[in-house]
Amino acid sequence: MLPSHGSNPHYLYESLSIEQPEETLDFSANLNPFGPPKALIEKWPDAFDLITTYPDPHATSLTKKLAARHGSEESHVLVGNGGAELITLVGRFLFHKRVCIVQPAFSEYEEACRSAECEVTYHKLEEGWRLDPNPLVEKMNHLDAIFLCTPNNPTGVSYDLESVRTLIAEAEKQDCYLIIDEAFFADFLHKEPRYTVELMTNRNLIIMRSLTKMFAIPGLRLGYMMAHPEVIRAIKKLKPHWSVNALALMAGEICLDEQAYMKATRKLIEGEREKLQLFFEKHRYIYSRSTVNFYLLKDPDQTDQAPLMHYLMKNGIVPRHTENFPGLEGRWLRFAIRTSYENDRLMEVLASWRSLSL
Ligand SMILES: Cc1ncc(COP(=O)(O)O)c(C=O)c1O
Repeated sequence: MLPSHGSNPHYLYESLSIEQPEETLDFSANLNPFGPPKALIEKWPDAFDLITTYPDPHATSLTKKLAARHGSEESHVLVGNGGAELITLVGRFLFHKRVCIVQPAFSEYEEACRSAECEVTYHKLEEGWRLDPNPLVEKMNHLDAIFLCTPNNPTGVSYDLESVRTLIAEAEKQDCYLIIDEAFFADFLHKEPRYTVELMTNRNLIIMRSLTKMFAIPGLRLGYMMAHPEVIRAIKKLKPHWSVNALALMAGEICLDEQAYMKATRKLIEGEREKLQLFFEKHRYIYSRSTVNFYLLKDPDQTDQAPLMHYLMKNGIVPRHTENFPGLEGRWLRFAIRTSYENDRLMEVLASWRSLSL
């Protein structure tokens, strides 16, 4: 009955029959709390003319820019209508194949693979969410593809790079696709794009990125994937011709130049994360070791976090439930890191919940 994704809080209130307060703070969608970059807002009025012609179906200009950013070739890049479209296309590309999802993870991988009649299995990580590549390597023999999300949604944990590299190398040896979803990567971490070398020759590696999180443009829909040109060509054949609209293409080009905005975002997120973690320690909340702009949280005194979720919602704080994340099943709540004011309000309500249970 609960909505399967964050954002659109009224669905969550409706499904739980909780009256929605006049003002709510939405912590359920993990978007940049600054909102879209100023440069995009300033250029928006000029964008109107773009809707009078068809968008470039090959996204040539943005593809060039992305390839340059990754030190790669344009033939390795495919722009899509949000990461979500690319996940669906990868699912179709894997039609009828044996797929394993490293869980907990974003629910769309399973949706996409099931609707493409794949055989889906899970590789569930223990709480703490450390990635040991060995058991996965052992399973590869019986698999056609593995989905790995890092930094991980919903935990915020980034998997150790050496372990990921081991998986990349083994997947190539065993001819198993490895799909790495980095929707929250470079932008929220102080890191440069990577896997450039592997992408040149490896036919089994697929990297997915989203622009909607960092640039707070989920309504526009924009993402891209990188893979071997053979894979890109095969997936492009499955994609509707003009699926990425002209406004999204324009926004993507503007956003990629916004280095100062990205830097300021990372600084805000880091500072707020530290502040929140100190508060959680002091008030005995347990949290995941997130590296990005969201985290998992639980009150260790409750086996089920539903009462806390209801309390927060009645007080205008909207978390993301974790009922549909295999391996979490409601034992945690997920929160975005928002502005300082919003995080302070969250802490206030969490402190008042604590004082109730004393
Ligand atoms: C891990 C992950 N990948 C991909 C997506 C899809 O992002 P987009 O908005 O680009 O479709 C999401 C959205 O929540 C996500 O969390």
